[in-house]
Amino acid sequence: MAKGLDIGTMNIICAEREGDDIIFMRQRNAFMKLDSSDLTKNMLDISKVLYIEENGEISLLGEDAFKFATIFEKDARRPMSHGIISPKEKEAIPIMKLIVENVLGQPKSQNEVLYISTPADPIDADMNVLYHKKTMEALARGLKYKTHTIDEGLAVIFSELSDWNFTGLGISVGAGLTNVTLAYLATPLMSFSIARGGDWIDEQVAKSTGLPKEHVTSAKETGSKLGKEIKIGSTEGALTVYYDALMTYVIQNLNRKLGEITPPNVAFPVAIAGGSALPEGFFEIFDKKLREAKFRIEISKIIHARDPLNSVARGCLIAAKTQEEKKYGKINLPPKKEVHNKKHTKKWRK
Ligand SMILES: Nc1ncnc2c1ncn2[C@@H]1O[C@H](COP(=O)(O)OP(=O)(O)OP(=O)(O)O)[C@@H](O)[C@H]1O
Ligand SMILES: [Mg+2]
Repeated sequence: MAKGLDIGTMNIICAEREGDDIIFMRQRNAFMKLDSSDLTKNMLDISKVLYIEENGEISLLGEDAFKFATIFEKDARRPMSHGIISPKEKEAIPIMKLIVENVLGQPKSQNEVLYISTPADPIDADMNVLYHKKTMEALARGLKYKTHTIDEGLAVIFSELSDWNFTGLGISVGAGLTNVTLAYLATPLMSFSIARGGDWIDEQVAKSTGLPKEHVTSAKETGSKLGKEIKIGSTEGALTVYYDALMTYVIQNLNRKLGEITPPNVAFPVAIAGGSALPEGFFEIFDKKLREAKFRIEISKIIHARDPLNSVARGCLIAAKTQEEKKYGKINLPPKKEVHNKKHTKKWRK
């Protein structure tokens, strides 16, 4: 059995194969602290909430931290920011260890192969991903997985561009970062990230409209539509403005980075994934902007990932399977059907 794990600023997602299906287990990369009392514990037990109790304090984890943040009028804390472990969050590593354990579970066999996604260094922020990468690798190895890392953009290519022999441009528009990789026959020619994604959009819209950031995130995630016309004075209008700015910024930087390499003279397909690519209208606008941009490479097809939120985890699983194939012979992928969050996360305490 092999597994793929996408460790993101907003979501931690595990992909594994079960028969002909791929099962995705997802948790928000978030937590919230509460004082421990019998009443609170009873309420959390009844609601089947994921939490741990330690030194008289309760930590709600994952999706539940988000849900309960509004009820308790507290902020959900985030262990990662801009794609890496947040240096400002002292409890980031132990909390992430618990969330990773929850979605990943125990290895089912000895030497089970696991591929985890890691971001590329951002070109517009003074940040280095090495510490994050090594820490996450050590954390997964501690859980007894035979762990390898894969660049997030390459994971998108593994997930979406198998029909092109893993040649193309993979773009993951996430929460903290936008990751971009250009690969030729599964070999990266160029990888970089940009320190802007869904969080940046939420912050800018919140600043411009005066709405709380959580309100903007929720409005964005519950059926926002990006249009050509800007609806003046609405949250959707502000979202359209900043989404447009993000896409333009990604294209400008992509063009600049392509100027630094000499790619083979072939036409490259482009695959677009990541949770921030989900709003209605996103793909049409990005597609048009990419076609109008004068790149140094020829672009053939532009593909919207069939399941943008799970694409990186799926690519990690394919990488892990490919590694296993080398050892144990051919294993068929992709599967006939994909199942999302089939298993319910279990409640457990330390
Ligand atoms: N339905 C939706 N519509 C719009 N945006 C969404 C939707 N669902 C999730 N998002 C946004 O997608 C982002 C999360 O995407 P994703 O899980 O790909 O990021 P991540 O992998 O956690 O972050 P990163 O790769 O930057 O570290 C968040 O900004 C979230 O608000
Ligand atoms: Mg991501």
